[in-house]
Amino acid sequence: MPVTMRLLVLFLALALPALAAAHSWIVCTDYLENNGWYWDEAKCRAWPRSAHRHNMRFGYFGLHRGFMNKLDNHPEETALCRHPRNDDTEYTDLTPMAAYYLGQKVVLTHPTKNHVADVRCKDNTNIVDTENLIFAVDGDEDPCCIDSDKLIVVEDMGISPYGPDIDPVLTTTYPKPGFQNAPKFCENEADAMGTYNFTIPLDMKPGRHTFVWKWIRSPTVSPFTTCWEADVFATKAERDAHYTATGQSTVDLWDFYQINTIVDGQIVDPIDPVDPIISG
Ligand SMILES: *[C@@H]1O[C@H](CO)[C@@H](O)[C@H](O)[C@H]1NC(C)=O
Repeated sequence: MPVTMRLLVLFLALALPALAAAHSWIVCTDYLENNGWYWDEAKCRAWPRSAHRHNMRFGYFGLHRGFMNKLDNHPEETALCRHPRNDDTEYTDLTPMAAYYLGQKVVLTHPTKNHVADVRCKDNTNIVDTENLIFAVDGDEDPCCIDSDKLIVVEDMGISPYGPDIDPVLTTTYPKPGFQNAPKFCENEADAMGTYNFTIPLDMKPGRHTFVWKWIRSPTVSPFTTCWEADVFATKAERDAHYTATGQSTVDLWDFYQINTIVDGQIVDPIDPVDPIISG
């Protein structure tokens, strides 16, 4: 083989698995545990738009079954949301819509799809992360496209540390900002859980809103998006009354590192707050 051909083959061998794998989507829109280690469906109180159509609740965490939405960088051709908005048909009793309150911290979950720089299992620390944004939609219509002026940035969730020469300790330090906040990545590189948090702005108008997550992995790869609706209440008391009426827990989320003591990477005093919640 000529040298250029060998180089091309080498390049493809290195680049293709990463390109094929690095996609993602939001699985849960109101998760009870911030910075958690493992996905637990019982900790998910609300689901994205159309989750039931793709078995997002009862299927395997890392399988999207057509749920994933990748834009084409020609927004007039690829819809921002995987399915059009219809609040009557796109939520079910088993995959309900979220309810938030002003000032609340919200936790979202997503599968890692091989895309985390963590030197315990990856030699390459140059796993890029470019943009992790949460938008709220101004008005009730589905926004046409990612550059719609109806999209208002609610929070910039930062980017994870990466680079060919970064201190390896940065890659194994959690929590991390951005996409790669997945402490158990090395146990399941494709399908480990990553979590994000964002805060409902105090000046948001109470009422039902559409939210959009957008992830740009690399500037050369089209963005990934997930859409969902949520009822935003002025106070926690009103949010709690709503969740009580729909038969859901009214507990506030907790932080994994606040309820667990970790010594040498192990939980020394395991607590599972889910049981007390369910038993009331
Ligand atoms: C919430 O996410 C931000 C990044 O958007 C991060 O800086 C912050 O540490 C997170 N908060 C907690 C408690 O993990």
